[in-house]
Formats: sequence, C-alpha cells, structure tokens
Amino acid sequence: MNLDERQRAYLGALGIDIWVSRAAVPMAASASAPVTTAEPLVEAHADAVETGVSQMDWPQLRQAVAACTLCDLYKTRTQTVFGVGKQNADWLFIGEAPGADEDRQGEPFVGRAGQLLNNMIIAVGLRREQVFIANILKCRPPNNRDPQVKEARSCGPYLRRQIELLKPRIIVTLGRIAAQNLLQTETPIGKLRGREYEYEDTAIPVVATYHPAYLLRSPGQKRKAWEDLQLAMRLVKNK
Ligand code: URA
Repeated sequence: MNLDERQRAYLGALGIDIWVSRAAVPMAASASAPVTTAEPLVEAHADAVETGVSQMDWPQLRQAVAACTLCDLYKTRTQTVFGVGKQNADWLFIGEAPGADEDRQGEPFVGRAGQLLNNMIIAVGLRREQVFIANILKCRPPNNRDPQVKEARSCGPYLRRQIELLKPRIIVTLGRIAAQNLLQTETPIGKLRGREYEYEDTAIPVVATYHPAYLLRSPGQKRKAWEDLQLAMRLVKNK
C-alpha cells in the first residue's frame, strides 16, 4: 500500500502504525493482494482517525489537526486554524471556517467579523481570552465557498474532541453552517436561533445565533443576536 509522506506523518501523530483498508482485511492471507477500491480505504482511514482522535489530549489533537490531509483542503490552505482560547473556557463559540485572514494568521475570527465577535463576547461580560473560539472546518475553503459535506464530516471528530476536552457550559454557534452542522439539521438559521438545544447526547446547551459577518451586512439583526446571547447567559447561570 502506498502512503504518501503526509499520510504517514498524520497517522504517526495519531499513534496508528498501519493504515488497513476494510476491503483489504479479508484478503490478509494474500500478502500480494491489491487494494481494490479507494472508497473503503478512505472510510477505514476516517474510522481510524475518529478512534484515534477521541483519545487525544490537547497537544496531540493540535498536532493531528496541523498534519491533517483527510480532505482536499490541505492542498490550498496556508495553515490549519485549530481554534483559540482558554482550554477550560465556559463559553465555546463555533463559526464556519477560516477566511483569508484566518488562513494567513492561523487564528479564527481575526478579520472584521472577528472584531464584531469580540464585541459580542464583551457584551456577555467576557474577553476573547476567556472563551474558546473554533470553527466547523479547520482549513479555509477556496474563495470562501461553503464547506462541503465531506469536509465537514472529515473535520467533525476534531471539533467533537475539542468539545469533550473543553467541557464548555454553553456552546454558541455563529451562522447557518455552524448551527446546521453542530445540530445535524437543515433547518434555516432564522428558525434555529432564539432557542435552546443540547449538543448530541451531552447536557451541554447550544444556542444558535447569526454570524457576525452577516450582522455586519444586516445590522438591523443585531438586536436578535443580542437576545440569543442573553438566552445563552441565562443558560450558563442556570447550569
Ligand atoms: N468566519 C468564520 O466562520 N470563522 C472564522 O474563523 C472567520 C470568519
């Protein structure tokens, strides 16, 4: 089986020595049997990654993300954007994906939308350094296009592990993509916002609100975003 350097480095970081295709397993007796299709291999890889990621600590997770080649976005990224903030923060904000500024600087929400996010954080009585900020995707999609399903699926275990390690008291999703991916729904953001959800099978409350970039374009919606943040504050207090 031919693994390229990046894949080897990545699996090494996960502590996975051999990358075995599900399709290849029944043929183990035949050492020379070729791997037949790429698809099961990708699936097996994704499973192995998910299993490995679910055991990682912060440094291992950071390293795995930095070396990730699970989807094609690694080909066009400048660097991965892991997330930033306090590793035991009560508040986790989740955006969509890095943009051009974030891709260059390696930090989420550093552009104009980031300025507004900082103000939203201040509005709930905190500073940027006191929360954790992450994205659904760790790599920038070219031309800031929407994340593809495969990309979000590949990146999912990283965010899930971040949430497991953080154990936040509240998750605030920013925009449609973040809300729909985290809550696994296709409901429009206008319907998702303003209510409380739970993250998967945890008791961690989730509040969906508008993306700061959208609020910059539609400042008339800031009042609703503030209502969402107030709901989030109430949920944190009641926990
Ligand atoms: N928009 C996002 O959703 N995330 C970022 O990190 C920057 C802009």
